[in-house]
Amino acid sequence: MIVSGFMGSPRKNGNTAFLLKKFLKEAEALGAETRMLHVPDLTIHPCTGCALCEKKGYCHFNDDMQKEVFPLMRMSDVVVIASPIYFYNVPSELKALIDRSQTLWSRKYKLRLTDPGQSSRKGFLLSVGATRGKDLFDSIHLTMKYFFRGIAADFAGELTYNRIEEPGEMKRHATLNSDVHTAAEQLLTPLKQRTPTLVFVCRDNSLTSQMAAAFAQHYAGDRIHALSAGIHPGHDIHPELVKTMEKKNLDVAYRRPRSLASLTVGTRPDRVILLGDGEDTAIHIPGARVSSWTIPGGHNPDTDSMASLCDVIEDKVKDLIHGLHLATDHSKTI
Ligand SMILES: Cc1cc2nc3c(=O)[nH]c(=O)nc-3n(C[C@H](O)[C@H](O)[C@H](O)COP(=O)(O)O)c2cc1C
Repeated sequence: MIVSGFMGSPRKNGNTAFLLKKFLKEAEALGAETRMLHVPDLTIHPCTGCALCEKKGYCHFNDDMQKEVFPLMRMSDVVVIASPIYFYNVPSELKALIDRSQTLWSRKYKLRLTDPGQSSRKGFLLSVGATRGKDLFDSIHLTMKYFFRGIAADFAGELTYNRIEEPGEMKRHATLNSDVHTAAEQLLTPLKQRTPTLVFVCRDNSLTSQMAAAFAQHYAGDRIHALSAGIHPGHDIHPELVKTMEKKNLDVAYRRPRSLASLTVGTRPDRVILLGDGEDTAIHIPGARVSSWTIPGGHNPDTDSMASLCDVIEDKVKDLIHGLHLATDHSKTI
């Protein structure tokens, strides 16, 4: 389970940073793998409203949105946005990130693509402001509601604190520890319990295992935790993967290869399926049932055979999910 924190305050050691770090520490204690990005350190060009993303599904600014932010959002089970209140909303650097997420909004609502990870991804807001006004968080709440919807995350909750102004005030807050503990537990416990965990593995995690995991997420939704990994992960996914999956109306843009070794640090798979040509190295994951699928031509297909490869993997995943009888028995051994 990956919990990512996007820290929106320009003050690196201020109240928002303290609150977010506390939340991520609590998430780690509950078994999550955590990541944090300091948004003002990123290069994010403000959206110019050119509408290219609405037509084509991508942005012409090749900055940290494409390189860091979208890949992290897409791999996260929980996206935490942490922000101080600036004039009743978020600071400008974080607003640029939110506006540029229009690319994901467009892929979802204009191009009608489905992010297969959407059924289990959660969004959470942490925010602090100086005044005591009753409506202090109304505006950021509304912004987050539509932001999380745009990035395909379910807005699952928030922790907000007023009358927090000078650095250090958050640290001294009387109920902070118990608030964070309760919120993190409520948010993460259901995600921890969504067994079984199924990991699709191929040599470099650039194509076949990515396809299989996306189909499993799509067809099983939150009834399983479907992941993919590579024995020797490449730097990027196969150049034809996104377009091929778009023909199935599925959006796998911004996914990145991941190593099996790193994945098994924070995840205990129940079942591992190795996709290969039948000559792949055997793998052993403690506690997991390991099986193999032979996928002819799966390592380096030409453009013409991509669609049929995709169909083969889709059918195999559908059969697998069907055989698991997940709807009736979540605890079934797979
Ligand atoms: C430019 C700016 C605008 C702010 N606007 C508001 C505001 O509208 N309402 C409010 O309650 N606090 C406002 N604040 C105060 C901050 O929200 C508050 O000091 C917060 O604790 C800062 O968190 P940080 O230490 O993480 O940066 C503003 C602060 C700055 C610098």
